[in-house]
Amino acid sequence: MNSSKRSLTLRTPDDCHLHLRDAEMLKRAVNHTASEFGRAVVMPNLKTPVTTVKRARDYRKRIQAAVEDQFSFIPLMTLYLTDNTRPDDITEAATTDWLVGAKLYPAGATTNSSSGVSSIVKLMPILEKMAQTGLILQVHGEVTDPHIDIFDREAVFIEQVLSPIVHELPELKIVLEHITTRQGIEFVKTSSENIAGSLTPQHMLFNRNELFRGGMRPHHYCLPILKRENHRAALASAATSGNPKFFLGTDSAPHAQQAKEAACGCAGCYSAHAAMPMYARLFEHYEALDKLEQFSSVNGAHFYGLDLNPGTITLAKESWQVPDSYSVENGESVVPLFAGEKMDWKVIPDMT
Ligand code: DOR
Ligand code: ZN
Repeated sequence: MNSSKRSLTLRTPDDCHLHLRDAEMLKRAVNHTASEFGRAVVMPNLKTPVTTVKRARDYRKRIQAAVEDQFSFIPLMTLYLTDNTRPDDITEAATTDWLVGAKLYPAGATTNSSSGVSSIVKLMPILEKMAQTGLILQVHGEVTDPHIDIFDREAVFIEQVLSPIVHELPELKIVLEHITTRQGIEFVKTSSENIAGSLTPQHMLFNRNELFRGGMRPHHYCLPILKRENHRAALASAATSGNPKFFLGTDSAPHAQQAKEAACGCAGCYSAHAAMPMYARLFEHYEALDKLEQFSSVNGAHFYGLDLNPGTITLAKESWQVPDSYSVENGESVVPLFAGEKMDWKVIPDMT
C-alpha cells in the first residue's frame, strides 16, 4: 500500500454486506457502490425475497444491467433463508460461483424479514447442507422477542442462538453481520477460523447518542441499533487491529426520505455514496490507515475464498461536501449519512 498524508492507494475493495433494492433505487445505489468497490455481497431482502437460485439469477442480471459502463462491478449473491428453504436450493446454490452464501434473518428482525426463519431447530438440516457444500451462512444476529431490550438483542442472540449453532456445526462457515457489540467482537475473536464478522461505518463512527443529538435523527436509525460508546470503541479497535476475522460490510440500505422521516420510520443508513471515505476517517483517527487495505480488500475475499480484486482505488485527503440528498428517477430521494456535512477523504476516479 502506498500511503502518504495526502493520498492512499488501495487494492480495489469489496463490500461484503450491501442492500441495493430494485428498479430506480437500484440504479441509484449500485453506481455509488460500483464507483468504489469491485464486488459486493448483495442482500436478498427485496419485497419479494430472493429465496431461490432462479430469483437470485434474475436479480443479479437486473443489477448488472443497472451498472454504468464506466464501472466494472461483480455482484455476489446470497439466498434468503425461510422456513421453507429446501436442501436442494442449497445444493443448487453451491454449484454456482456467484452465490456465495445464504442469509439468516430471524423472522421480523428488520426490513422485509417477515418471511425469515421462525425456527432454528427446523433450519438445522439446511445448515447441515450448507456446511457440507461450503455455502457461507450470513447472520442477522438479533433475537426478535419484544420483551428483550432492543439494545440487548444481539448479545442475547449470540448466547441463545448463535453459540448453539456453532457448537452443533463447527464446520459451518458463518459471518456475524454488522456486529454492534463487544460481545459480538469477543465471540468472533474467540471462535474458530470458520467464524468472521462484518463491520459497518455507522456502528464504528457513531454511538447511540447520535440517534438523539439535538433532536431525533431518523437517518441514524438502523438495525441492529447503534450502541453505547464502549461497544463502538470495541468495534473500531477490532477493525483497525489487523485481525483477519473482521472485514468491511457497509450495510448501506437506501430508503426513500419520506419512509425514514415518518411517524414509524424505516431502519437503514445509506452510506454507499462515501463508504470508503468514512472508513478512511475512522482508520485515520485510530492511526491505522496502513491496516485499511487488509480490512477493505483482503480479509473478506479470503474468508469467501475469492481471489483479490485486480486494480486499485485512490483516496485523497481532500474536503468535499456530501449533498443533502440524492434524487432517484422515480421522484423519490435518499438522504445519505453525513448529509450536508464535510468529508475529508475523497475517492479519486481511476483515469486509466
Ligand atoms: O437497518 C437495517 N436496514 N438493517 C437491516 O438489517 C436491513 C436494512 C434494510 O434492508 O433496510
Ligand atoms: Zn443489512
